[in-house]
Parts: sequence; C-alpha cells; structure tokens
Amino acid sequence: MHVPSVIEKKRDGKTLSDSEIRDFISGYTSGSIAEYQMSALAMAIYFQGMNAKETASLTHAMLESGEVFEYPKTAPRVVDKHSTGGIGDKVSLALAPLLACDDVWVPMISGRGLGITGGTLDKLESIPGFNVSVSRKDAVAQLEKIGVVMMGQTPEVCPADKRLYALRDVTATVPSQPLIVASIMSKKLAESLDALVLDVKYGSGAFMKEKSDAQSLASAMKRVGKAMGVETHTVLNPMEEPLGQTVGNALEVQEALETLRGGGPSDLRKIVISLAAKVTVKADAKKLGQWLDDGTAWAKFEQLVDAQGGDSSRLDRFASIHPAAVVKDIKATSSGEVAAVDADTIGRASLALGAGRSRADDEINFSVGFDQIVKTGTKVTSGDLIGRVHAAGDDAAKSALRQFRKAVQIV
Ligand code: URA
Repeated sequence: MHVPSVIEKKRDGKTLSDSEIRDFISGYTSGSIAEYQMSALAMAIYFQGMNAKETASLTHAMLESGEVFEYPKTAPRVVDKHSTGGIGDKVSLALAPLLACDDVWVPMISGRGLGITGGTLDKLESIPGFNVSVSRKDAVAQLEKIGVVMMGQTPEVCPADKRLYALRDVTATVPSQPLIVASIMSKKLAESLDALVLDVKYGSGAFMKEKSDAQSLASAMKRVGKAMGVETHTVLNPMEEPLGQTVGNALEVQEALETLRGGGPSDLRKIVISLAAKVTVKADAKKLGQWLDDGTAWAKFEQLVDAQGGDSSRLDRFASIHPAAVVKDIKATSSGEVAAVDADTIGRASLALGAGRSRADDEINFSVGFDQIVKTGTKVTSGDLIGRVHAAGDDAAKSALRQFRKAVQIV
C-alpha cells in the first residue's frame, strides 16, 4: 500500500476500501505508518467523513488490532456503559462499581482526557497506586473475584485505539462521527459484552453540538453494536453545563466518592442510576439508589481500588491528597438567576489550568480545576459564591477566574 495515496484519496472525499482501512490501521499499530501520516488521515476523515461501510471497516480494524475478552461459560451477564464525553462527566467512576453490585460483570475499558473533556483513566490515576494497565488475563481474574475492572487500552487490548486516541486528543480531530464510533465501539466490542448503554452527549461541552448530530452518532453506534450481537441502548443527554459541581481530575473523583456514599449532586446521581438501570439484571432504579445510600456501592468501590493497587483505607482522606497551590473563591458580581454555565468555556479553562494535555507526552496536574460550580437555575445575590478555582499559581488562577466569569450568565 502506498500510504500517501490512501491519505490523498480520503482528503479528496473518495471512499476507502475495507483493505485500505485495515492495512492502514495495522500499519499504524505495528509502527510502519508514522504518527504524522495517521494524523493526516484523521484530519482527512474529520473533514470528509466516512460512510457506514467505511466506519464498520475502521471499527473492525481497530478491534482486530488486539485481543478480545473471553469468559468462562459460567460468567454472568457482561455489561458496560460508555459516554461520548462531556465536561465534569465522572459518571463511570460511580457507575461501574454500582453496576457490579448487581448480578453482572463490568469489564470497563475507558480512555484518558480527550479534547476538552476529561478522561476516566486520568481521574482514576489520581487515586494513589491505582493501576489502569491491566492485562486481559488479570482483568478476567478480577471479574471472577469482584465483578468489575476499570482499565485502559493496552498493547494487547485495543492497541490501535490506545495510540489513535492519544493522537486525536492533541491534533483537533476528536469531533468526527466515524472516529468516535470506531474508538468507542472497538473498545466495547473487545469487552465481549452482552449489553451496553451509551450516554450520547450533545451541546456546548460535547463533541456533538447539535442534538441531531448526537442522534446520528447514537444510531451509528447502535448499528455497529447490533451487527455484533450486543444489546445496545443509547440515551441522549444534554451537556450545556458541567455535570455535577466539579471539573478537574481529583476534584471530580472526590465528587464521585461522595456519590458512591449516597451524597453528591442530584444531576450526577440521577444520570448514574438511570444509565445503570438500562443494563442491570435484577436491580431497578430504586434498588440502585439504595446501594448508593446503604454502603453497598461504596464497599464495591473499595474492593476495586484495593484490587488495582490502591489503598481504600486512604479514600477518606482523598480530598487532601492533591491540594492545589492556589484556591480562590469566585463570587457573583450581580444578583439574579443563573441562566447558563457554559460547559465548553469551563472545559477549556480547566485544560488551560493543566487538567489536560496539549502534547501527547504532557503530564497532567490532578489538583487543578473548579469546584462548587453553581448550577443553572440557582438564584444568586451579588457576592454569593458561584465557584472556586484550583490552580498551580496566581496567574493561572486569575486567568481561569476570568474565563469562569464569562461562562456564568446571571440574568
Ligand atoms: N470516548 C471514546 O472512547 N472515544 C471517543 O472518540 C470519544 C469518547
């Protein structure tokens, strides 16, 4: 295959064949195709799109770049959830252990920060010792013991997505339907699921700004899931304001911990329960709520943390593990009702604080971000707290504070 010719073909809006797509992905995964060539193809796909057949070929090529999970015959129903990404979206952290309290296995393969959104793996790594690089064999052994594993793509499972995901994050090629479908569904199909629920976001803080685009993305993922025999549910959820009241890795983990202990913001709890209820075997929404309130979900999360190298006895003190150098209150400068808290602006401000990457090898700062973020519809009086910024220094805090003010509209 002449690599530049394939890039050129897609650049010019032509349709790639199954073998061109498969050869490209296998060449990229093995290292014979360079990062800059994959970047160019991703940008060409971003602008020219792919038809359903090309998208299916890309998904299968990425799935087949690695191994798929195999389970013993005695395994219960295997289920998972994935989100298309949003600001303050820490749903997976609470949902995976909650689901595992039901009679199911949850082999959740997630990603790192992507574009303006944070990633489950980065958030989990803010828990000291938590290891997200789990082999397929160890993952299945952990499922047999506790029913849940939360891990990343590895050199053996979804290696193509592992590399392409990191590349898309820093080359502005995330919001492309075929790339999102292939990224999400290759991971989920590698899990050999019985059932999957997809949380498809639309709005300012989502990759799909319009509901109609999110609907089309949902249909495309459902088509791929169904074709592979996976019971696939899609739920469209708005992402105009951040989910919950925190944005930033450790701050979001703290909020997820509160949710797992029966507290946390109501929008977060509601979405966790409603998504989980789509794929449970025994538990309905009421039972799932009880498991959050009575310590059952918390106990499962402790087992998960201990199984993956963390120390659950330190979770009580998690809030003090990542103190930011500077924490500043943000106060309302007028009175009225909060009409909007723009998720995109807050996501970008959080990235600028250091919560995400601008190069694939960047270190992220777990401690930075925002908390106590006011919710749309709240009545405020001038001087009321509408959020707090956690920053690595004064200049970063000041600039984030300015951005935050732009995001919050009080009328
Ligand atoms: N989540 C993924 O795993 N991949 C995407 O492309 C978007 C969200």
